[in-house]
Amino acid sequence: MDQTMNSYHEPVLADECVQMLATAASGIVVDGTFGGGGHTRRLLDAYPQIRIIGIDRDPDATANAPDDPRVRVVLGNFQEIGRIVADELDSSHGGPGTVDGVLLDLGISSHQVDSAARGFSYHKSGPIDMRMGTDVSQSAGDIVNEYDRDDLRDVIRRFGEERFAGRIADAIVDARPIDDTTALASVIAGAVPAAARRGGHPARKTFQALRIATNAELDALSTGLDSAIKLLGPGGRICVISYHSLEDRIVKRRIASGTTGCVCPPELPVCGCDQQLELTDLGRFRPSAEEIAANPRARSAIMRVAAKVSA
Ligand SMILES: C[S@@+](CC[C@H](N)C(=O)[O-])C[C@H]1O[C@@H](n2cnc3c(N)ncnc32)[C@H](O)[C@@H]1O
Repeated sequence: MDQTMNSYHEPVLADECVQMLATAASGIVVDGTFGGGGHTRRLLDAYPQIRIIGIDRDPDATANAPDDPRVRVVLGNFQEIGRIVADELDSSHGGPGTVDGVLLDLGISSHQVDSAARGFSYHKSGPIDMRMGTDVSQSAGDIVNEYDRDDLRDVIRRFGEERFAGRIADAIVDARPIDDTTALASVIAGAVPAAARRGGHPARKTFQALRIATNAELDALSTGLDSAIKLLGPGGRICVISYHSLEDRIVKRRIASGTTGCVCPPELPVCGCDQQLELTDLGRFRPSAEEIAANPRARSAIMRVAAKVSA
């Protein structure tokens, strides 16, 4: 890795994010996925007047809080962004209110995937854990060793979009108990037909599925997006960086529903649908070839940005 890169996590699409949050330069931004604080640091450098509330569910991440009076970092799930921010604004800014920007940089950090003991990696031997934070009780190992075959297949199919989910679930059930990530990866690899082993490691999709299920990531995203949009003041912006199609689909649909105003037939004298225009779609951004060359983990990233049009 480039020596100038952040060893905890190199922020993805950071220039684009800083640019899109210029409207919050002298306001409050919530970094809902603080991680190594890479995006936060870039915002602090660019905008001297900015204030940031950082949230992460992983205590390893909240330990990275910079020594800067403009930042507060809180341990929590961005699913509860409304309550967390209300508490922070209450104590530090004299009362509840709105914010000017929200950033969600989804998934896991390089630090999490590179720490064998966290169990996220199919390349490194470790316990099958995958819990992002202490708020999660069930580990991925519990799913692997305790779910019945059909439930396991459904998790792998739904959250991994893995076409061999049934065969993989059978192989896992036959090999139980499995307590090591690399042992699990080889059971999965043995269940995927050789002819289909193109496009990455054969365990990639199943590991993604187990991680998403363990941390209820998609529920957190749906709830967190709604709450984050509610929290924005007029003109406030939300930037969401996704790394796979399941995440991006949720973000894309939520922005699309916010950009659709009243859908009543024009002949109706009064609106009966109660659907109000809430957001302006400011587009989507992909990493440049240079960014991907410097940081291959940016490869699949897509950032969608929207602005709040009404309170
Ligand atoms: C891709 S990393 C963020 C990296 C960060 N932007 C940086 O530049 O260092 C994602 C982080 O979000 C955290 N995370 C994921 N889902 C979360 C949730 N629902 N609530 C709070 N934190 C979450 C993970 O623990 C991880 O630290």
